[in-house]
Amino acid sequence: MSNSDFTPRDTFGSKFGIIAAAAGSAVGLGNIWKFPYVAGQNGGGAFLIVYLLFIIAIGLPVMMSEFSIGRRAQRNAIGSFKKLAPGSPWYLVGVMGVAAAFLILSFYSAVAGWTLEYISKSVTNAFAGKNESELNLMFGNFISGTWRPLFWQLLFMIFTVWIVMAGIKKGIEKYTKVLMPLLVVIIIILCIRSLTLPGAGEGLAFLFRPDFSKLTTDAVLGALGQAFFSLSLGMGTLITYGSYIGKQYNLSGTVIQVSATDTIIAIMAGIAIFPAVFAFGIDPAEGPGLVFITLPNIFQQMPGGYFFALVFFVLLAVAALTSSISVLEVVVAYFVEELHISRKRATMIAALMISVLGVFCTLSFGVMSEVTIFGLGFFNLMDFTASNLLLPLGGLFIVLFVGWVLGAERSRNEISNQGTLRVGYFPVFMFLVKFIAPFAITLVFIYGLGLLRL
Ligand code: PFF
Repeated sequence: MSNSDFTPRDTFGSKFGIIAAAAGSAVGLGNIWKFPYVAGQNGGGAFLIVYLLFIIAIGLPVMMSEFSIGRRAQRNAIGSFKKLAPGSPWYLVGVMGVAAAFLILSFYSAVAGWTLEYISKSVTNAFAGKNESELNLMFGNFISGTWRPLFWQLLFMIFTVWIVMAGIKKGIEKYTKVLMPLLVVIIIILCIRSLTLPGAGEGLAFLFRPDFSKLTTDAVLGALGQAFFSLSLGMGTLITYGSYIGKQYNLSGTVIQVSATDTIIAIMAGIAIFPAVFAFGIDPAEGPGLVFITLPNIFQQMPGGYFFALVFFVLLAVAALTSSISVLEVVVAYFVEELHISRKRATMIAALMISVLGVFCTLSFGVMSEVTIFGLGFFNLMDFTASNLLLPLGGLFIVLFVGWVLGAERSRNEISNQGTLRVGYFPVFMFLVKFIAPFAITLVFIYGLGLLRL
């Protein structure tokens, strides 16, 4: 018997704390850095429609499944499967999740580090008077360097460690309760600024008007990967957070609020970015550099640009931080509960291991740019493996587990708080997790990998 069987587990202290932490995990670089450029490259509104369909038909049931597994088991991602299906290989789903956490945080912290550099550039007014190609060069020079990007990446990891080490209530919940409202205020300010620029309508049309000709197979797999990544699904983050949710809270309400917040903020990021892009006549399909090259270019031409640039990069950093803590927590909870390491040591060890991988991600833009594995640089390899392979595969097994192993009776019990809540939607949920979500994920997955041609 482990220590954790005797000491009560840390939990979230309030409903708002649960939402702030879970939405904090979901809302991140995926929404503000990735979503706008992925949507931009894949047909704007057409991508948005597919994305929303995936959120509803797959995202909601997977999120509900993760919360139910975690809250029922009161364990980390691996321990939850061990407890609910003892002696079976299901725990390997958790193992895959912990592995995904390592990969994700290694490249996530690299980009998060860039946001810190760009906060410092905003403070020193480094974008002033620079044109697009100079800003492009500035970004290229920075990310292909060695010490500067590594410094910011490690600093970001230290912030993450600081919060996770303090625990659930006194760390994750305490900080996300302040940072998430701050993020909402900042993004509203940025949307208002963007919408009041001349020519905003064109940007909105780009974001919302569907162009189905750009909706390729890759775009559809991309939309699924993005839905998983953005909602923090498929790797046990929400199993872990679910295990800190008290039995009295309504899980379905939490699922809806977290998914809605995540989706609305992704769309708001698009609204903050595209009207400005069009107002200044810039190519909207700029790619990953959109927020680090295009936006500084726009900011420095726009009234109040100094202030808005600073606010924007603070927004990015805050969003990244509330997500990275949830990724690290997946590993830490596993180390603490299964390997019986103290939280403090577990956090340090996990962060150190991830940082080593992270160094390779950062260097893959610079001195290691020639090194490729399966044709991908280290950064892209981590991103692709985690977002397009491990997360959808994890999500698939998670819904199968709830649908076919945990089963209707135990699931209904968990979701209805032992029969005290009305759950009229339950048959629909069961149908989604047993059939629709597994089928859809499998189809998109094998089709996207080129294993099937329709
Ligand atoms: N959802 C985060 C984002 O959109 O940036 C990233 C993320 C966090 C992915 C936690 C996966 C995860 F488990």
